[in-house]
Amino acid sequence: MISQREILWRKGKSGLKVGALGIVAFGGIGIWSGNDKFFEQFIAPLLTKVDPEFSHRAAVTLARFHLQKRGMTDDPPNLRANLGSLVVSNPIGIAAGFDKNAECMSGLRRTGYGWVEIGSVTPIPQEGNAKPRVFRLPQDKAVINRYGFNNDGHEQVYMRVQEFKSQHPDYIVGVNLGANKESPNRISDYCKGIERFSNTADYFVINISSPNTPNLRDLQKSETLPELLQNVMYTRDNQTRRVPVFLKVAPDITDADIKSICKTVLSEGTKIDGIIISNTTITRDDLESDPKVTQESGGLSGKPLERASTILVAKFYSELNGQIPIIGVGGIWDGKDAFAKIQAGASAVQIYSVVAYKGLGVVNAMKKELSEILTKNGYKSVAEAVGSRHAESQTPVTKTKSSSAAV
Ligand SMILES: Cc1cc2nc3c(=O)[nH]c(=O)nc-3n(C[C@H](O)[C@H](O)[C@H](O)COP(=O)(O)O)c2cc1C
Repeated sequence: MISQREILWRKGKSGLKVGALGIVAFGGIGIWSGNDKFFEQFIAPLLTKVDPEFSHRAAVTLARFHLQKRGMTDDPPNLRANLGSLVVSNPIGIAAGFDKNAECMSGLRRTGYGWVEIGSVTPIPQEGNAKPRVFRLPQDKAVINRYGFNNDGHEQVYMRVQEFKSQHPDYIVGVNLGANKESPNRISDYCKGIERFSNTADYFVINISSPNTPNLRDLQKSETLPELLQNVMYTRDNQTRRVPVFLKVAPDITDADIKSICKTVLSEGTKIDGIIISNTTITRDDLESDPKVTQESGGLSGKPLERASTILVAKFYSELNGQIPIIGVGGIWDGKDAFAKIQAGASAVQIYSVVAYKGLGVVNAMKKELSEILTKNGYKSVAEAVGSRHAESQTPVTKTKSSSAAV
């Protein structure tokens, strides 16, 4: 015998499901059309009513089943770029954390991303932090997340990457490695990732910059980074395939930290192949969204991170002297922002938060705009523009809402 209350609850639940499905279907049309204006004006306001983690899952599912409009088929030749020894047909990749479990690489490739970075993935599967753990800050064009490395673990993710790479051997897949929250030896977790994925990954990322795994960022410190990288590079050098290793850093570091990180990553025995700048920030400056949301713990990404991450790219570029490539990430919203990161010193860029506001198809408008800006500024390739304004890019500005690229 079902009670009246139970009947009402079930009706309410199915109503909610229908509503959510309606939004997903409507969103699907916008996403499929690849029209980011449509997405921004109609879908994004609707999505603010839906749990952000649900939207993220929906976007991954749509991409997984190729329900996303195919992007530009041939990238303009001036967008060809290098991530060290790796060549990509355009310099805009999807950042780690979107396809955590390597479920939709094929859809992302089809949509137009120059390459994908999957993960962060840890040796043992883990559920991550309690929900809710992702928040939108619409007034700030930002996201706060404290997922906490929820992922399917090395084994399952490895199978998916291997299958995809057997079909698309030339498409670059980076594997972003994390450490299990309860791991007794975090350094060994990164080494296990290198061993597991060495025969299939195109590059590795040692992610020690997530703010959502307690004390993980301590591994960036001068007392611990050399030991971590010695172990990682030793493990890498003992595999049959020599896969490039990149380090992903946090934006919340001092100039002294930058100097010490650069010294380590260029030293014999701990020399890596590239650096990704940056992960999310724990700062909360000048935000305009509801304080209830801005005070949520976790990493902040999107527009408020843009200027800080560009300054960091420029500072690292000066310090590294072009010896290893930089991938710039943080608050990129359009082609101008991508160009600003390149001029600051990035050889290529990645995006994430903008996708939550404009849909996955945004990469195509971005590519088109970037290609035009390069031409307009007399650059025949991305490489020619890399670091062309690294000195000017180090000047902080007070407000971070608009692009600062010289176009
Ligand atoms: C919801 C969410 C989850 C993320 N998860 C990861 C992750 O697992 N590993 C990682 O290295 N970075 C992760 N990031 C950070 C992004 O890769 C990127 O560095 C950061 O968001 C800045 O770029 P954006 O401003 O374009 O979002 C995550 C970001 C978001 C918004």
